Amino acid sequence: MSTLTSAVTVRAPAKINLHLGVGAPRPDGFHPLTTVYHAVGLCDDVTATLADGWGVSMALPHWIDADDLPADGENIVDRAATLLAAHHGIRVSGLVSVVKAIPVAGGMAGGSADAAAALVALDRVWDLRTPDEDLLAIAAQLGSDVPFALLGGTALGTGRGELVEPVADHGTWWWVVVPSQEGLSTPAVYRHFDAMFPDAAPEPCGADALLAALATRDPHRLADVLHNDLQLPAIDLRPDLGELIDRGQGVGALRGLVSGSGPTCVFLCESADHARSVAAALEQDHPRVLVANGPVAGAHLVEYA
Ligand code: C5P
Repeated sequence: MSTLTSAVTVRAPAKINLHLGVGAPRPDGFHPLTTVYHAVGLCDDVTATLADGWGVSMALPHWIDADDLPADGENIVDRAATLLAAHHGIRVSGLVSVVKAIPVAGGMAGGSADAAAALVALDRVWDLRTPDEDLLAIAAQLGSDVPFALLGGTALGTGRGELVEPVADHGTWWWVVVPSQEGLSTPAVYRHFDAMFPDAAPEPCGADALLAALATRDPHRLADVLHNDLQLPAIDLRPDLGELIDRGQGVGALRGLVSGSGPTCVFLCESADHARSVAAALEQDHPRVLVANGPVAGAHLVEYA
């Protein structure tokens, strides 16, 4: 029996990459990855409401600059709606509002989270019941990180990042997250990786050590094996990120890391209290410092009417 739902709110998390191994570019220009995605409790909420027309609105916290968002019509939420509707041969309709809390252009897959949440919300209000495999395939067309935003938790990513499988992660890991005032373009960081490492192996480095550390639930062990092949190129483009990582480690974080392609930096801590004390120290020099834990769920329904 179909239940008519007129409005749905779906929450989707930011990601960090606990391991990001990058290989030499493929013929299609994308880089082969071996990555361990990790969803943290810093989320965007997407509400889809039934309506005859179509519109997308964004509500931003004061610390996100509206100029960093793509122009109307190019938003990944519009593309998600178009692909989902085309998959079912229906017309795009509804009002979608996005309440953002994930840094924009920050290397935390905020746009991917919005796309994943929009797919789940529109699937529900349009009463489509799209099978999970089809949603994952549509997500992969939208971007390399979008399938993971559907899945959440901690997951191994391969291919260009779009092939995801959950991995066991029974720990609770505490992070201090420091967004940057200024975004960094993902393609530019990958291009800089190619320039810095023209002899990169075709196969990205594997994540076995990281997966073994996760199983210990010991943050000190995890800190030793966090790995990001995009960190050096990101720091070469933005030397302030290297200084921030040194500073975070200097005030006691177990390890600092550029998140994905940056410029957000994340700091692994021992506990919630430890994370709050590291955050308090970093707040002296940085206007926005967040504390989040992981793993958390992928795109999921939080409210409907
Ligand atoms: O897939 P997504 O749209 O998130 O990718 C954004 C850009 O990041 C791509 O156009 C490409 O320049 C770069 N990228 C890459 N290799 C990947 C993922 C992304 O080169 N595996």
